[in-house]
Amino acid sequence: MTRSIHSAHAAVPRGDPADETREREVSRRGLLKGTGMGVLTIAVAGTGAVSYRAYDNRLLGPTDGTAFDAWRNWRDEPGTRGMVAAAVLAASPHNTQPWIFRIGDTRIDLLADPARRMAATDPYGREMRVGLGCALENLVLAARARGYEPRVDLLPDAPEPRLVARVGLAAGQVRHSALHDAIGERHTNRGPYARKPLPNGFLAELAALADDSGPVTPVWLTTSRARREMGVLMVDAARAVTADEAQSKDGFRWFRGDADAIEHHRDGLTLDGQGLNSVTTAVAKLLPATSRASGDTFWVNQTRTVHTRTAAAYGVLLVTDPRDPAQQLAGGRLLQRIHLAVTSRGLALQHMNQITERIDRDLGLGRQPEFGPRLAALVEPAAGSGRQALVAFRLGRPTRSGRLSPRHPASEVIS
Ligand SMILES: Cc1cc2nc3c(=O)[nH]c(=O)nc-3n(C[C@H](O)[C@H](O)[C@H](O)COP(=O)(O)O)c2cc1C
Repeated sequence: MTRSIHSAHAAVPRGDPADETREREVSRRGLLKGTGMGVLTIAVAGTGAVSYRAYDNRLLGPTDGTAFDAWRNWRDEPGTRGMVAAAVLAASPHNTQPWIFRIGDTRIDLLADPARRMAATDPYGREMRVGLGCALENLVLAARARGYEPRVDLLPDAPEPRLVARVGLAAGQVRHSALHDAIGERHTNRGPYARKPLPNGFLAELAALADDSGPVTPVWLTTSRARREMGVLMVDAARAVTADEAQSKDGFRWFRGDADAIEHHRDGLTLDGQGLNSVTTAVAKLLPATSRASGDTFWVNQTRTVHTRTAAAYGVLLVTDPRDPAQQLAGGRLLQRIHLAVTSRGLALQHMNQITERIDRDLGLGRQPEFGPRLAALVEPAAGSGRQALVAFRLGRPTRSGRLSPRHPASEVIS
């Protein structure tokens, strides 16, 4: 689902420095050509207009703004506010941050903000509740690190449909963990991954994190054949999303194309988050923001030439009913835990959910399912029957670091 907007075309992913150079050249050429801006940009380079845009778009200090403060001070806040400060750093679909927190004397309530659900992309609230589950997991880890024993009640029986979890806080022991320490380092990494397998036994370590995740189990696609087939499905689904005007517009609405938009909204996707190398990112920032169509083209190209081509493995979280809110929340908790564990080992993860977005879209419109049967055929050998995909992601060894994404600080999401 996640896509971005400027027209950097066809980065060629490789793990070694020679390939990095080639990628830079190809991307930059493609980027300039793709916008039809090559001659014009070179002609005005060095003029006041470009210098101003460089300054205005934070070319040099891309994450200096207050929209990134939440990453800098999340450990300093004590007590319940500190737990919320950790929760807001969680992953969420398109960085929509669909959460509100209510702090009581002995508990924190987590509520959904349905205005932040993407209607055509997420008709059943699957991704919104997975994102809420991600925030809940950070909250629980932060409660333990601050000496509380959290007790999670999912979908408590209260006459409040937006209330998705109630976290009771009893005094307990201070429990730090590697997962907690990784909260401020975790980022969705959309760059190329190295052409090396994951460390031996690593996927088994991740699978062990599912022990108390109730109905959620991970499966891994690791063989070159399974990865190739999953890659084809991902690219086909990305094309289908972009061909669907409502889904394409949904994504475009959450892209923040310059520093002003980032500071103003403190959410959404940014150029810095696209995993491009620094030269390409800088050039893209100098160019005028481009259209929804060129953003869609960029995303499909990145999916084809970078995301799917350099995945060392795919993970898919399976549940018995992907439209069941409790399973969506539990899935989000496990997803966040996996991402934190991946981070603490210096590895990379990118969420990739265009396939399930197409599955829900077909269902919502009452259409013949296209992607459901294809995905089921792919995961069934590992999953057995009776389980379906909730979310998917790729894993690998990073060739460049993920960047900070903007956040509403805790103070803005506590009701
Ligand atoms: C349920 C869910 C679905 C997501 N789907 C995608 C996706 O399809 N593609 C992608 O690149 N990122 C995806 N993301 C990652 C978000 O865009 C990312 O978490 C958000 O922009 C915040 O950035 P961060 O994870 O680096 O903090 C997804 C995240 C969640 C929780």
